[in-house]
Amino acid sequence: MLDVRALNAYYGEIQVLYDVALQVHPGEVAVVVGANGAGKTSLINALSGTIDREGEIHFDGTAIDRLPPHEVAEMGLIQVPEDRHLFPFLTVRENLDLGAYPTRARPVAAQTLQEVLDLMPRLKERTRQVAGSLSGGEQQLCAIGRALMSKPRLLMLDEPTLGLAPIMVSLVFDLIRQIRDTGTTILLVEQNVNRSLALADRAYVLEGGSIVLEGGGQALLKDERLKAAYLGG
Ligand SMILES: Nc1ncnc2c1ncn2[C@@H]1O[C@H](COP(=O)(O)OP(=O)(O)OP(=O)(O)O)[C@@H](O)[C@H]1O
Ligand SMILES: [Mg+2]
Repeated sequence: MLDVRALNAYYGEIQVLYDVALQVHPGEVAVVVGANGAGKTSLINALSGTIDREGEIHFDGTAIDRLPPHEVAEMGLIQVPEDRHLFPFLTVRENLDLGAYPTRARPVAAQTLQEVLDLMPRLKERTRQVAGSLSGGEQQLCAIGRALMSKPRLLMLDEPTLGLAPIMVSLVFDLIRQIRDTGTTILLVEQNVNRSLALADRAYVLEGGSIVLEGGGQALLKDERLKAAYLGG
């Protein structure tokens, strides 16, 4: 579904991704793990087209590496940004409605809203609350909900559990599983190695802007090199 080859990405003169290759197949959860500064957010931004990149990015067989961000989103490649980008003075409902901007999403927005709220009872109780007054975890749910309103075919999640309490971390990982089970393909970038690899059909380790390890999620969890680098041996 997503096929990336020889991807380089840049902030001005500074190169941050080096020759990245990765695949995401339909219906699976692919995970990219990496430490702070490894290039996880840059990878998502490069795929969305919001930073300078060169290389081959095919989405459903179509080359998207030269498309502007809004056309990438129209095709159904949607990201939930690391810092959530909610509108704090708008209500949860208004934030969700704003997600339904792609042409494909607009006609079915009412039905999608019901599906999203059914998936997230905690949001359902708070549709009239302004987003800025939600807890951190609820804000993350709202950001994921808004992305779902865009009818993603591939949903990219940037560290959705960052800074959340353990119970909320579990809730978000369960939610990711549920979203996958409804048929939405997922690319998750995370520092939470154990939880995210347990969920991953396919996984990659990013270090200094390069992929240094890849394999099945379960296989990587047992990989000695990964254990040494991330799990304290
Ligand atoms: N706007 C920018 N201008 C210049 N360099 C940047 C910019 N944004 C990020 N970088 C650099 O790109 C590299 C990768 O950063 P990136 O944010 O992609 O890492 P990350 O894996 O998402 O880290 P974190 O886990 O902290 O979110 C870092 O060296 C960072 O300093
Ligand atoms: Mg990041």
